[in-house]
Amino acid sequence: MITLGIETSCDETAASVFDSETGILSNVLFSQVKLQKEFGGVVPEVASRSHLEKIDTIITEALKQAKKTLDDIDVIAVTSKPGLPGSLLVGVNTAKALVFSLMQNSCNVKLIGINHLEGHAFSAFLSSPNIPFPHLCLTASGGHTNLYLIKDFGDYEFVSSTLDDAAGECFDKISKFIGLGYPGGPIIEKLANEVNFEDFFKYPRGNPNNLSFSFSGLKTAVLYDLVNRKAFDLKAKRLLDDSHVLKQKVASSLLVCITDIFIQKLKLAFKKHPQVKAVTFVGGVACNKYIKNRLKEFCELNEKQFFFPEPQFCTDNAAMIAFVGNYKAQQNKFSDFYLDIF
Ligand code: KG4
Ligand code: ZN
Repeated sequence: MITLGIETSCDETAASVFDSETGILSNVLFSQVKLQKEFGGVVPEVASRSHLEKIDTIITEALKQAKKTLDDIDVIAVTSKPGLPGSLLVGVNTAKALVFSLMQNSCNVKLIGINHLEGHAFSAFLSSPNIPFPHLCLTASGGHTNLYLIKDFGDYEFVSSTLDDAAGECFDKISKFIGLGYPGGPIIEKLANEVNFEDFFKYPRGNPNNLSFSFSGLKTAVLYDLVNRKAFDLKAKRLLDDSHVLKQKVASSLLVCITDIFIQKLKLAFKKHPQVKAVTFVGGVACNKYIKNRLKEFCELNEKQFFFPEPQFCTDNAAMIAFVGNYKAQQNKFSDFYLDIF
């Protein structure tokens, strides 16, 4: 069975072809990072217009790299939620139009709407096919920070999420405050590496007895710590100390703090779900080598296996959508033309 995956939930236009026998045949992506950089974040209108311009080319390229044509496709799996409405609509309507036109040609192609978070939650399988069940999945991206108990393909239970900002958003916002670029995560990791990930400012770690994450308090704590150090003017919203050394210290302390918070929540989740055999760490933040090393160490200490996808499958991509589409098709979980984005 050949599945075409389509992903347009935020600022990446992506398509991938997945073969149920051999796995991923292609994984093509256009990132809007350069387009969105000047705004310091994602502008929804800019995102949806760019998806519209790129989607046909990206799908054509994914088919070409997979050495397939549309007639070879059995299933079209598309991210239908959650995400930016205008962006999701481009992907969902493209998928519907393709299915409809192929049906006119007597092709028996099926449509499946995929939850973007289910895509992330199973993305570690793209790099490690033998992850044992049940396991815990820590999803950390720019829009979400969630813990799931994963029992089988498509069978998962929500454990906890962030009460406010996502971990990636915290990296991005603090990066913006201190005049670094977007996206903040990779820049913060690079700066923290320069000072050996030392915990200079010891920001608060939150409540260790609660499984919910919270990062907006941490963001405020970093800001007020800078104000107390006379390094930030709150009224003018600008840095008074623009030194590289200060930025390194903020970046390093923030990265260590967020990693400690992840470990704190996993520790509590292990107590609640002692049966789990492994942990997967997924989403854009799972590109971070320091966090992966610390989580791996922690899992080993607790006799749990640890898995993460390779970077191309951590950030938004269509391979994870095609992968979920493939197992949903085998479970006969199809969508109809009423598929909506909510
Ligand atoms: O999964 P993703 O591409 O998009 C969403 O669904 O949000 O995640 C993007 C997020 C951004 O917040 C970015 O700063 C973060 O992932 N990120 C990182 C790293 N690379 C990307 N965070 C920490 N360390 C990294 N190396
Ligand atoms: Zn995502």
